[in-house]
Amino acid sequence: MSYQVIARKYRPAKFSDITAQEHVTRTIQNSLRMGRVGHGYIFSGLRGVGKTTAARIFAKALNCQRLTDDPDYLLQVTEPCGKCESCRDFEAGTSLNISEFDAASNNSVDDIRALRENVRYGPQKGKYRVYIIDEVHMLSIAAFNAFLKTLEEPPPHAIFIFATTELHKIPATISSRCQRFNFKRIPLDAIQKQLQSICDAEHIVVEGDALQLVGRKAQGSMRDAQSILDQVIAFSAENDHDGAISYQGVAELLNYIDDDTMFDVTDAVAAQNPVKMLDVAQFVIKNGYDEQDFLEKLIEHLRNFLVVQNLSSTKLIERPDAVRERYQRDAGNFSPRGVMQMADFLLLTQKELKFQFEYQFRFELALLKLIDLVHAPLSSSTSTATTPSPQKKKPLSST
Ligand SMILES: Nc1ncnc2c1ncn2[C@@H]1O[C@H](COP(=O)(O)OP(=O)(O)OP(=O)(O)O)[C@@H](O)[C@H]1O
Ligand SMILES: [Mg+2]
Ligand SMILES: [Zn+2]
Repeated sequence: MSYQVIARKYRPAKFSDITAQEHVTRTIQNSLRMGRVGHGYIFSGLRGVGKTTAARIFAKALNCQRLTDDPDYLLQVTEPCGKCESCRDFEAGTSLNISEFDAASNNSVDDIRALRENVRYGPQKGKYRVYIIDEVHMLSIAAFNAFLKTLEEPPPHAIFIFATTELHKIPATISSRCQRFNFKRIPLDAIQKQLQSICDAEHIVVEGDALQLVGRKAQGSMRDAQSILDQVIAFSAENDHDGAISYQGVAELLNYIDDDTMFDVTDAVAAQNPVKMLDVAQFVIKNGYDEQDFLEKLIEHLRNFLVVQNLSSTKLIERPDAVRERYQRDAGNFSPRGVMQMADFLLLTQKELKFQFEYQFRFELALLKLIDLVHAPLSSSTSTATTPSPQKKKPLSST
């Protein structure tokens, strides 16, 4: 049996399998029920959140024989049946009623002309031909213009779905002729749940919060999460726990900086302990962690403090319970203003580090400076996060 990557093996086959995009699937299902289907759609959103998947299911539903012939089924179920000839063709990838066109590599006017030519012919079987144009923002202006007329007077059988990760690059002349759907970043708990059900289906044992680490790394993209899971499964197969996925294993594989290290930083600030702070900096450098990555995580860590301080609740912190409790406890060590100052300063440092050479030295210095930022008396009412405290001569940026 050939191996299939998870992202393909678990590609949703019906609307209800698509996670976290109900605002899109519900509207499309309603339009199917009411028989009010448009000719142009724009699906926008981050990579790997279900745009192509939703477009394919939509195309399958439009041609499903059961949905066409059985009004009760259409009203009550509104999903492609998966059993009729058309649905089977779609699932086998042999349907002629769907064409996928990659605008990143076919973006000339000639390519669009060829597509327009193709659009004139109706489907042999079924009602609709669906054209999915991926990465549509890569089309040239001339190519967009060549397309306009087709979009204005499309043949009744043609439906265009434009998918893009960069909505703002699509000319208004095109987007105003389409129905627009914005796909959301997928929330961590939804990703985690999906990964868990994949592991269950694959009979893979997972330790407590290991999948949360995978999900966090994916930053809202389901495809990324599933690709990382592939990697994690391969990695875990080698250990001696029967292929079980452990938290430690995932942390190691992803070169993950754990929450404890972040708390080490805030502890050092609270205790005004530069020695401890230098230890953390050395730890990061020695273990080959990326400094930028570390700062990114540290900023998120501070954001979590602000959440607790402002909402007096840890509801919005996506962490295991023990870590949330620690946020609750430690939030009292700082004023919200102090936390904000640190965050502002780190954001600035992050930008500056990109252009610096003595990278590690500056990284250490920035961490040390956090202690100062929070504890030095404010110099005047105009003092901001990025102005140096009185005893420091220069901000990091002025060299
Ligand atoms: N909302 C979702 N629910 C369930 N699975 C999803 C979802 N989004 C993505 N996936 C999984 O990720 C894979 C890739 O998704 P898809 O091709 O639809 O992403 P996309 O939004 O078109 O991304 P890109 O912008 O990179 O083209 C799918 O095969 C599926 O396994
Ligand atoms: Mg896609
Ligand atoms: Zn069907």
